[in-house]
Amino acid sequence: MPKHILILMAMSAEASPLISRLSLTAVAQAPATSSSTFSLPYETYTGSFTNSMSITLLTSGKCATHGVDNVGTLHAGLMTMYALREVQGSDKYDLVLNAGTCGGFISKGCSIGSVCIPEHAAFHDRRITIPGTPFEAYGDGKTHCHTGESGNVTQISSIRESLNYLGGGVTTGDSLDHTAEDMLKMMANGSTVKDMEGAAIAKVCELAGIGYLGVKVVTDLVDGERPAFEEFLENLGTAAKSLEEAVPKILEFLDKEEKAQA
Ligand code: ADE
Repeated sequence: MPKHILILMAMSAEASPLISRLSLTAVAQAPATSSSTFSLPYETYTGSFTNSMSITLLTSGKCATHGVDNVGTLHAGLMTMYALREVQGSDKYDLVLNAGTCGGFISKGCSIGSVCIPEHAAFHDRRITIPGTPFEAYGDGKTHCHTGESGNVTQISSIRESLNYLGGGVTTGDSLDHTAEDMLKMMANGSTVKDMEGAAIAKVCELAGIGYLGVKVVTDLVDGERPAFEEFLENLGTAAKSLEEAVPKILEFLDKEEKAQA
């Protein structure tokens, strides 16, 4: 059962209300434990939840060139590896919780503000079809979400059922919009929601042997009428407030289960 939780979020606007709600404190400079000379943009916050869980939260920080949040799979993967290798203290993390906004599919029951806890993650824009080889499946990169070392997939379902959140898959790519080919792949991936980080973080977690739990709030409707960016900008603030509510509920669920089993 998780006690040391690593929360990973792409955008500071998504994370700010949650950081305040959990009373997390900014760590001036992430304590590097290797001889890396990289200057990394990730911002680290620490604290605890109900005195029984330690929380470390990282955001992707800003692009030094463009001044915007480092969204997308490149920084998602790098931040995850950085956090798992460099930021953790003497105790290893038990679980990675990836919270953020997403596009949602009306056809899968999403509306603006829906919360999804995906059961699996995959990519929709890595088209590597070379007949007779497994490159296509490699590109799709499907990963199962779970909460623990023993691959506890059922706990994901019980969390979302008890909190009445949506399940299904998160499909990940490096664009806010999508092409017709992306749409085919997103459907083949069994996706309820679409984001720009989930599958990348889940894949690094798989490599590291740690559980990945996604919490995704819908800001825009992928199979709706309007451009994603319009709805995204309109709903980012309320989605961040919704993450501020949803993440503590999930932590509470995990905490209660831990205490029940102690
Ligand atoms: N985050 C919020 N909305 C999104 C979308 N439509 N695609 C990818 N990431 C998102």
